[in-house]
Amino acid sequence: MSSDVVLSIDDLSIVYHTPRGDVRATSNVSFQVQRGETIALIGESGSGKTTLSLSLIRMLPNNAAITSGQILYTRDGQTRNVLHLSNNEIRSFRWRDCAMVFQGAQNAFNPVLRIRQQFADTAAAHGERDRAWVKQRTLELFKLVRLDPQRVYESYPHELSGGMKQRALLALGVLLDPQVVILDEPTTALDILTQRAIIDVLKEMQQRLNFSIIFISHDLALAAEMADRVATMYAGEIVELAGVNDIFYRPQHPYTLGLLKSVPKLDRGHDELISIPGDPPNLITPPSGCKFHPRCQFADARCETEAPPLAEVTPGQWAACWHSDKVGAQMRAEAAGSERTHG
Ligand SMILES: Nc1ncnc2c1ncn2[C@@H]1O[C@H](COP(=O)(O)OP(=O)(O)O)[C@@H](O)[C@H]1O
Ligand SMILES: [Mg+2]
Repeated sequence: MSSDVVLSIDDLSIVYHTPRGDVRATSNVSFQVQRGETIALIGESGSGKTTLSLSLIRMLPNNAAITSGQILYTRDGQTRNVLHLSNNEIRSFRWRDCAMVFQGAQNAFNPVLRIRQQFADTAAAHGERDRAWVKQRTLELFKLVRLDPQRVYESYPHELSGGMKQRALLALGVLLDPQVVILDEPTTALDILTQRAIIDVLKEMQQRLNFSIIFISHDLALAAEMADRVATMYAGEIVELAGVNDIFYRPQHPYTLGLLKSVPKLDRGHDELISIPGDPPNLITPPSGCKFHPRCQFADARCETEAPPLAEVTPGQWAACWHSDKVGAQMRAEAAGSERTHG
């Protein structure tokens, strides 16, 4: 393993036990996170992005079970399996090593407590007792996320706008200097200008503090802007993993191509918004072979029976598809067609 890997997820599988059967939410997922890099997880709702990220900080709901794999975390040359940490160790691991900012996080603050209290409480809950240090760090971080430090420190949550709360939450996320920050749809509830500002702030923080980011979004434009590498998830599996430019300009998996096409383009009419035909599969009884085959324009008999492995198609670009060679040609043909219609 390269010495710059902070997190190595290895063959991770997770099921949810339900009365109707086991939901296979994450299947044999492997990838590594390098120090300081941003990996975006993209994929339709239900593809397993949140499940995967919750497992990294051991916050899965009670009906979940990890059925295979390990999560190796390295700090200061020491590697530990997150799945083997004791309850005390995991409490300190969250926030100090790996912090998560959740979906719809605007409501994460307790409405009856001042912001400063919530920062102090979070620090204390994760073993940081130096109150003077916590205060100084909080004020510094507020400056870094471009909030008025003194004002926000003394505020109640309702006195802050959505964008301000989201920034305060980013500051809270890195309060205890984690190496990895997981952001699950961090800007979904915000308007587009506020989203922009948050992304700028996030990049600046990352440059200054050098943490790694796992950025979960169904918004491909945001993912493109944030990420160094992108992992496409489908039905609980990583079906493509590559550098951001390869993913967006030279996708090798038909599902990635489908996601790219379903992004609305300004120069297309609304009715031309192309979405991927069919629905995401039932994860209690997923399709045989390649799980994407029922929705795939390239699928043949082999795809129905044999699951393609995630293989390195071009250097640094991994795809799980028997027909990845056809994806690029398809993309070029469609681009040429749309030139003819609109150009
Ligand atoms: N607590 C739960 N119990 C049972 N099934 C769940 C639970 N949480 C999520 N799931 C299922 O697991 C799959 C993955 O969900 P999730 O990880 O939330 O995907 P995403 O974040 O990509 O939308 C979905 O089929 C979802 O319905
Ligand atoms: Mg989710």
